Formats: sequence, C-alpha cells, structure tokens
Amino acid sequence: MSIIELLASVFLLLVPLFFYLTKKSRSKASSKSNPNLPKSYPLIGSSVAIFANRNRRIQWTSDLIQISPTATVVLRRFLNDSRVLTGNPANVQHILKTKFCDYEKGSKARQSVFDFLGNGIFNIDGDSWKFQRQVSSHEFNTKSLRKFVEIVVDTEVSQRLIPILSTAAANNTVLDLQDILQRFAFDNICKIAFGYDPAYLLPDLPETEFAKTFDEAAKISSGRFATLLPFLWKIKRFLNTGSEKRLKEACSDLREFARNIIKEKKQELSNKPSLETVDLLSRFLSSGHSDEDFVTDIVISFILAGRDTTSAALTWYFWLLSQNPEIEKEILREIKDKSESPVYDEVKDMVYTHASLCESMRLYPPVPIDGKVALRDDVLPDGTVIKKGMRVSYHPYAMGRLEMLWGPDWEEFKPDRWLQRAGDGVGNDGQVELCREGPILLPRFSGRSKDLFG
Ligand code: HEM
Repeated sequence: MSIIELLASVFLLLVPLFFYLTKKSRSKASSKSNPNLPKSYPLIGSSVAIFANRNRRIQWTSDLIQISPTATVVLRRFLNDSRVLTGNPANVQHILKTKFCDYEKGSKARQSVFDFLGNGIFNIDGDSWKFQRQVSSHEFNTKSLRKFVEIVVDTEVSQRLIPILSTAAANNTVLDLQDILQRFAFDNICKIAFGYDPAYLLPDLPETEFAKTFDEAAKISSGRFATLLPFLWKIKRFLNTGSEKRLKEACSDLREFARNIIKEKKQELSNKPSLETVDLLSRFLSSGHSDEDFVTDIVISFILAGRDTTSAALTWYFWLLSQNPEIEKEILREIKDKSESPVYDEVKDMVYTHASLCESMRLYPPVPIDGKVALRDDVLPDGTVIKKGMRVSYHPYAMGRLEMLWGPDWEEFKPDRWLQRAGDGVGNDGQVELCREGPILLPRFSGRSKDLFG
C-alpha cells in the first residue's frame, strides 16, 4: 500500500469516528452541563486545558471542584477516557469505605510506580494488600503510638531538633525549615518502622544522598502517571534513556539501601530472636513472608508513607503559625499548661494543638489528591455515573476549600472549627474538647454542608 493510500484509509476511518465522537460528547454535555468545565473537543477531550495546567494540576482541579455545584467534575481526555475528580464528602466515603471492594489501585497507576514501589502496600490490592495492612496495623495501636511518641520526643526532638533550632536562634542563623523537617521526618520513620537511625538531623546537616535519590524516583514515577502520553515513558524505558535511565539507577540505589537495612535487621534478629521493641520490619521478617524483594518493597513504601507526609504537614503548620501569632500564643499556653504530665498523656490532652494541626492539614493536606479505579459500573452518591475502568480521584485539597462545607471563611486558619466548648453544651465550664462523632474527628461544618452530605 502506498503512503497516499494509507493516509486516505486513515482519513476515511477518522471521518465517521469524528462525527460519532462529536455526537457522543454533545449528548453527554447536554445531559449534565457544567459551563465551568474546560472546553472538551472530539477525540482529544479537554487535553489542551489539562496540558496547559500540567504544572498547577492540584490548584487547577481544585478550582474546578470548588465551583462545581456537586463538588465533582468529570474531565475527558484522549479518546473519551474520562476521569472523575471529587471533593464531595459523601462520594469520598463511598469510594474509600462503603464500596471499598469496588475500587482498586488500577493497572495504569500500578505500572507507573512499579519500578519504584514494587508490590508494596501503596501499589497492591487483594490478599497481599490485606496481609501488609494487617501486619502494619500493629504499628498504629496505642502501645506502638506511645512508643512512637517517645522515640520522636526523647531522641529526635530533644537531642537533635531543639538543639539545632536553639543554636540557630542564638546565632541569628537562617535555617531552611523544610529541609530540617524532612531530615527530622526521615530519621523518625526509619527509627520507628525499622529500628534504624540514618542520623540525617545532625548539627552539620550531612549530605542526604539517599533522600535525594528517593525524591527523584518519586518525582519521575509520578511524572509517568500524570503524562497524557504514557507510551512515551515506556519507549524511553526500553531505550534506557533520559529520565527513565535515571529512574533505573535511582531505584537500584534505593533497593540497595533497603537491602542493607534488612540485612542488619536479620542479623539482629538471629542474635536476639525476641527483641524488646518490635518494629515493623521485624514483624514482617518474623511473619514467614521474608522474601527479600517483598520486604524491600515494604521498606520503600514505609519511607514514602512517613517522610514526606509528616514533613509537609509540619512545614505548612509552622508557616501558618508564623502568619497567625494569636494562634501560636494559644498553642504555647497549652504546651506550658500540660508540660508536667508524661510525654504521651501530655500530647494526648493537647486539644487546641491537635485542632490546629487538623486545621493546617485541611488547608494544606500532605496528600492533596489520590485515586482509584472502578472495578464495575457504579453511581456515586451525588449522581455521577461511573463506568467500569474509570479513574475516580478524591481531592482532599479541594475538599478543605469548599465554601459549602466550611462556610464563607474557609480561607481562614481557625482551629476552633474542630473544637466544642462548654457553651456548646459539652463538658464542664471552660472545658474544651475536640468535636467527635464516635472515634472520628468531625469539625463544625457550615449549615449548607448538608447539600453535599445528602
Ligand atoms: C501527616 C501524616 C500523614 C498523612 C497526611 C497520611 C495520609 C495518608 C493517605 C491519604 C493515605 C491513603 C489512604 C487511602 O487511599 O485509603 C495513606 C495511606 C497510608 N499511610 Fe499515611 N499519612 C501520614 C503519615 C503516615 C505515617 C507516619 C505512616 C507510617 C508510619 C503512614 C502509613 C500509611 C500506610 C501504611 C498507608 C497505606 C494504607 C493502605 O493502603 O491500606 N502514614 N496515608
């Protein structure tokens, strides 16, 4: 077949396809029109707008959700591949709880991060997820959390963080607080999960080669997922070139680092089979599933789980406090009041500080967006129709900015949203408590929030 014949055949195929898709997208648009959505074209959907906003994806999608009456938007990409993004609390509960079994991580996300996370808990469904979840859940019982707080406060805060901050204050030195808090979080997660101390938060601020490699691997892997043309990274990986070459090297370094931690832990366990403090890694190694690749995936997943989340939360928190001196004063007052009790009880009773952390994560959630893929057709509580295979993302960043939920003052940093006082009919005079419904913290929402909760 000549090139002209080939082009003509392609053209003949495209013409009916164009009319079919135009008709389809017109009928869809009229069935549920949202004039605030970006323009959608046949074949390419809203890819132009998606591409134009690729470097401000979180803010852009949040803006779209904030102006949607249901706090949900459907974005069309190439060939009618549709993505649902929601900040609607009833939908989020539906995806993550009520219909948990009908939504999974999905093969596209899984493939994109597989070289980095392997079969670790963030990248797996089914029995292996259940097993990892069960073993990990011990890490979050009261006894482990008590240990967690002690490790953080007794060593990392008292012996490392405070001396560095007070020396800088005494010498009037400017510190990069984000870097300090990343080192702090990295040391903590390694100590808590693996009983290993990388000692990144030392006064001379040592090179954090491993942490940099980790960032690079995370960034390239998430870039693979966000791209509109996934075949490109596959070609680059096949040719072992550019970012894919770098990802391969980074993943190999990360696995080597994780394998060394595992080797040391195995040695420790063989010398002393019943360790006094059982960390997560020892639990996995003693569970009978000690296949090295599997445990390596777990180590990498836990570094991901604990490092950037806590350090991002703390960085935004201190930034918000620097902008809100009255709230800072109130927190300092509470810290002074409670500093006589043992460390864990002290932390547990700091309701105002707790509320201020919740409020900070409302505005700047460390995981601003996350998603799943529908295993079957479904309808979300707000009426959004879901087709099998569709990606449904929940958007905590947008959810924390919904006027309908938080009221017209949603932009303000107000820890009081999470508190109820004696005057609200709770406790004794002057007593302040966190708003709860059972074990769940439930802030005071605006009167209009029932429109979203249904
Ligand atoms: C401010 C700190 C943190 C935030 C905001 C945060 C947020 C999240 C979010 C949004 C998810 C996904 C939930 C889902 O899709 O169902 C998640 C999962 C998870 N997080 Fe955290 N996290 C934080 C700290 C930690 C720490 C310190 C650890 C470990 C010690 C941890 C361990 C995990 C694990 C194991 C999962 C996977 C759960 C699963 O798939 O079943 N997280 N986290």
